[in-house]
Amino acid sequence: MDKFVIKGGNPLIGKVTISGSKNSALPILAATLLTPEECIIHRVPDLSDIRYMLEILKFLGAQVHYEKGTVRVKNKIINWIAPYDLVRKMRASICILGPLIARCGKARVSLPGGCVIGDRPIDLHISGLQKLGANIDIIKGDVVAQGGQLRGTTINLRGLYGSTVLGTDNVMMAACRSEGTTIIEGAACEPEVEDLAKFLVSMGAKISGIGSQRLIIEGIKELHGSEYTIITDRIEAGTFAVGAAMTKGDLFLEQAPVNHMTSVLEKLRDCGVTIQVEEKGLRVSRSGPLKAFEIETSSYPGFPTDMQAQFCAMATIACGKSKVVENIFPNRFMHISELKRLGANIELLKNEVHIYGIERLSGAPVMASDLRASAALVLAGLVADNTTEVHRVYHIDRGYEKIDEKLLAVGAMIKRVYSKT
Ligand code: EPZ
Repeated sequence: MDKFVIKGGNPLIGKVTISGSKNSALPILAATLLTPEECIIHRVPDLSDIRYMLEILKFLGAQVHYEKGTVRVKNKIINWIAPYDLVRKMRASICILGPLIARCGKARVSLPGGCVIGDRPIDLHISGLQKLGANIDIIKGDVVAQGGQLRGTTINLRGLYGSTVLGTDNVMMAACRSEGTTIIEGAACEPEVEDLAKFLVSMGAKISGIGSQRLIIEGIKELHGSEYTIITDRIEAGTFAVGAAMTKGDLFLEQAPVNHMTSVLEKLRDCGVTIQVEEKGLRVSRSGPLKAFEIETSSYPGFPTDMQAQFCAMATIACGKSKVVENIFPNRFMHISELKRLGANIELLKNEVHIYGIERLSGAPVMASDLRASAALVLAGLVADNTTEVHRVYHIDRGYEKIDEKLLAVGAMIKRVYSKT
């Protein structure tokens, strides 16, 4: 298991090219199961989560070729069973459920297990697919669906913590091949959901209300193959933007999806960070003091929960007291105890933290627990005194393409070291 060894102190200066979006690529790859024809997907980031999804498609019978960011996939004949050993590696694999039911009339997909960021039920996925007419039971830890022909209807996907991203994806994909019209109320409108909807339309699907909380889907019998380029990753871009802010750097984030980052960029500006939107991307720099702030996570276009940990890292060195409230995954604070190991002054109260900025963090060994928490620890290591070792960086490889090489190229003192612990 690799670790990162980081010497803090260098400002991040230069250009970073933002990769394709993980959270867009995963459901789009699953959507290729809806057609027997070939699909060609461009700008697919080289991440372990992507490799897991390609493994699942191959297991289901797909011909898959992945090279230089382009996936060619053909799901001519597929089987409908995705076992625990395959699905347990990645929760997002649940988004094959809708396409399998729509394509095969049945599916058996292992129920995703526990997750360190909190309780992540799929009740909304299941109730939405049941409303389309699928008979679904949980048998021996598997979601077992018998469906036959699905029929369009009106479904509300708003849950206790707002809308569900992968739940909207699953129901939308199944509805594309259902008989009649489906109306999804309380749909998630994250840019990644919008990208999936546009991909489905490029396969011949009939969807209106894209990007809104009310999606209308006219079911059709067959979908055809398509060639599509996915959006770039707003969370990767946001992470590097925080890196420039924390290190008093000056970064140009090439192909950053500026229009998808409004709430994050607004907060950075409030903290005294200079944001310049340019033709091919975003320039982020800081020269003055970093001001404290308050954020509350919510569904898009609100402040993304996937940027919460990175902003906690930033607050540890900001002037004054910051407040961070997590409303989507109330227990998503695994990074807090590790930031405290670097000397941060933080109070954790239920689903919020109060962070009192200090002059300087000091390097220490820390343990990554999940994808975004590990990004926060890397950012903290970039500004800490001496050396920080971030262990278990396999978490970060799930969602950041070659992050250590990208950081090295803009001046960070970071090294990937193979480690047995
Ligand atoms: C997606 O997860 C993202 N993953 C997550 O990113 C992201 O944090 C999350 O959306 C929220 O934005 C991918 O796109 C692969 P949800 P998802 O269903 O779809 C509750 C990352 O770091 N809920 O929108 O699984 C749920 O418990 C990852 O890249 C139900 O109650 O999240 C949560 O509180 C981490 N019942 C809230 O809704 C359900 O059936 C939002 O979850 C489904 C969800």
